[in-house]
Amino acid sequence: MTPVEDSLFLTLCCRALDNRSPHPILGDEIADEIVRTLDHDYERLNTTTNLVLNVALRAKKIDEVASRFIARHPDAVGLDLGAGFDTRPARITPPPTVDWYDVDLPEVVAAREHVVPDRAKAHTISADVTDPDWLDALPTDRPAVVTADGLMGFLAKEELGALFDRLIDHFPSGELVFNGYTRFTIWVARHSRGTKSVADQVKFPGMDDPREPERWNPGLELVQEMLISRQPEIARFPPVLRAYYRLSARSTSWSRKGTLVLHYRF
Ligand SMILES: C[S@@+](CC[C@H](N)C(=O)[O-])C[C@H]1O[C@@H](n2cnc3c(N)ncnc32)[C@H](O)[C@@H]1O
Repeated sequence: MTPVEDSLFLTLCCRALDNRSPHPILGDEIADEIVRTLDHDYERLNTTTNLVLNVALRAKKIDEVASRFIARHPDAVGLDLGAGFDTRPARITPPPTVDWYDVDLPEVVAAREHVVPDRAKAHTISADVTDPDWLDALPTDRPAVVTADGLMGFLAKEELGALFDRLIDHFPSGELVFNGYTRFTIWVARHSRGTKSVADQVKFPGMDDPREPERWNPGLELVQEMLISRQPEIARFPPVLRAYYRLSARSTSWSRKGTLVLHYRF
């Protein structure tokens, strides 16, 4: 795998470690099962407790948006862009009327077939999401919920904008939910121990204003900026991290220095 593709091990490993903690935030048993099965050098990932908690909690918030959308739209199409080895279909269990697609680069999709257990599999699409044609195979007459966890940092701002334009043009309506990066969190991603393995692959410069995508495409409307520091699950964080996030929750600009999940409708 290329370093960009290889980045999937970091988030996968964080979800597995969350599952092994006494009080998991996400509790993704299949991620843990995959990690136990694969012969991969997880030590070199340098995960930290803080990163594990943030990765688990952002996945939970993205899952919640997707689940609510599917409950309201049982005819929906679901997409996970840059799905890696994520097991979202098993966590949110879409009904058979929903078509869920896990999208990633060809090497990852090919490996996913062998690595992800059947109970977490959905349709797959092998594609570079910056390619203009990959959406052609998907229905155009059904509402769509589009998730992306850990992808945004690998796309240039123009690529992300063009991707949003294509999704909005393709589907009649839908929602987008992904973890966002401010300029500060991009700087941290480039310099911290936990994300050092992917630092050189980061193309996104960061986005400090969650309303910025509304200016890229007038069809897009911000539903919510979810600041991790203000989520109720912080109560389950270990004492020092809990105290830090409780304090930072008092300030929006401080909270934006941490993990955030952006949710839009179109
Ligand atoms: C940090 S990993 C996250 C994987 C998964 N979403 C998760 O949470 O475990 C980023 C993923 O994005 C994929 N990716 C990066 N650039 C991509 C692109 N242009 N098109 C499709 N997938 C891409 C990588 O192959 C990788 O699987």
